[in-house]
Amino acid sequence: MAPVRLCRKILTPWHHALRKWGLLTVGTLGLCYLLSPTVSPWPRSSPSPTLVSSTAPTPPKALPNIAPCVANASVQNISGFNELPEQSRDFMSYQHCRTFPQLLNVPGKCGGPKGSSDVFLLLAIKSSPANYDRREAIRKTWGQQRTFQGLQIRRVFLLGVSPNARDATKLNRLLWHEQREHHDMLQWGFRDTFFNLTLKQLLFHSWLLEHCPGARFIFNGDDDIFVNTDNMVSFAQGVPSEQHLMVGQVLVNTGPIRNPASKYFVPKQLMPSELYPPYCSGGGMLMSSFTAHAIHREAQHIALFPIDDVYLGMCLERAGLVPTYHNGVRLAGIYVPHRSDPLDPCYYRELLLVHRFAPYEMAMMWHAIREPQLSCGREVHIF
Ligand SMILES: *[C@@H]1O[C@H](CO)[C@@H](O)[C@H](O)[C@H]1NC(C)=O
Ligand SMILES: *[C@@H]1O[C@H](CO)[C@@H](O)[C@H](O)[C@H]1NC(C)=O
Ligand SMILES: *[C@@H]1O[C@H](CO)[C@@H](O)[C@H](O)[C@H]1NC(C)=O
Repeated sequence: MAPVRLCRKILTPWHHALRKWGLLTVGTLGLCYLLSPTVSPWPRSSPSPTLVSSTAPTPPKALPNIAPCVANASVQNISGFNELPEQSRDFMSYQHCRTFPQLLNVPGKCGGPKGSSDVFLLLAIKSSPANYDRREAIRKTWGQQRTFQGLQIRRVFLLGVSPNARDATKLNRLLWHEQREHHDMLQWGFRDTFFNLTLKQLLFHSWLLEHCPGARFIFNGDDDIFVNTDNMVSFAQGVPSEQHLMVGQVLVNTGPIRNPASKYFVPKQLMPSELYPPYCSGGGMLMSSFTAHAIHREAQHIALFPIDDVYLGMCLERAGLVPTYHNGVRLAGIYVPHRSDPLDPCYYRELLLVHRFAPYEMAMMWHAIREPQLSCGREVHIF
């Protein structure tokens, strides 16, 4: 069985060709951009950040108190438990813990629950406290909060607490300052580790239900991808948000990796089945409001699973839904002819999202695809 998550991290970038929904002319884009009232940078002198403890006048000095969720002692009785890798034992001991205090919040992100139906696309980006450079690049490029074609785009980063206690104190201060400047951080008091990504996802869905239930579409993905946000909005405009939509790189007929040395190792004790349900790779996916709410509902009945994107597949399966492509979306690898530049903007101009971009590449690409002089010949092949 192919190491699914691994593919995402190291193999050639995957792409969603979306020829049908080509870019509007850059001229129109530029105009929308300039006319947009929401595009101006957040005023530096804006009021203090909307923290849960909004009275805090100074950054946190110490680690916040993480709500103690008691380890499940009965897991010791599972056969072979003590031979499992530390990561798996840890996951199984705390699998039942779902409630964590929110340390950073932006309750007004969508204009309150009532106003939230004005938000067309909410970008919910999974980040880790240390990934400051990626967040900065995203804020300046594809993750800008703006109005495009009259539709509102909003952004939040999803974070836990650095698992390294010494870093955590420093990084929490950094996050506090970022929040004050950008108002785009949702942080909860759990250890931000790979196996806790499902937890992060579910805490986000709870937040969404409470603070932004009306957002029409939700993009959910990692902080190392490039999203052609304009194309995503254009695409989503053709889809009713009150219907099921889950678009991404769909993986079928994959199953748990049983090699204990793998980052993605899932022991039989945790999942006896050899088959995962169809799911979208967690690198980046677009879902409708309908589907986001279905996931929240189903998750109440499904035990946490260490691989977050597989877990979303389980939620969909239980709801009788499948990840699928809209007619206008095609899963695609990208064929870059020999000796041509793999970062040629012509290849990216018509895509929805591309995995594995360094911050400087995001900046390059964002500007390049909007370049009025960008002329792309017909020899561009997007498969
Ligand atoms: C483990 O199993 C033993 C024997 O079945 C039982 O007596 C004990 O209570 C169990 N321990 C836990 C923590 O569940
Ligand atoms: C603790 O672990 C045991 C063994 O896996 C399981 O049967 C039980 O449901 C777990 N308890 C909680 C609260 O999750
Ligand atoms: C997930 O976070 C909780 C709370 O911080 C922690 O107890 C647990 O060890 C973490 N799990 C993993 C697998 O890192």
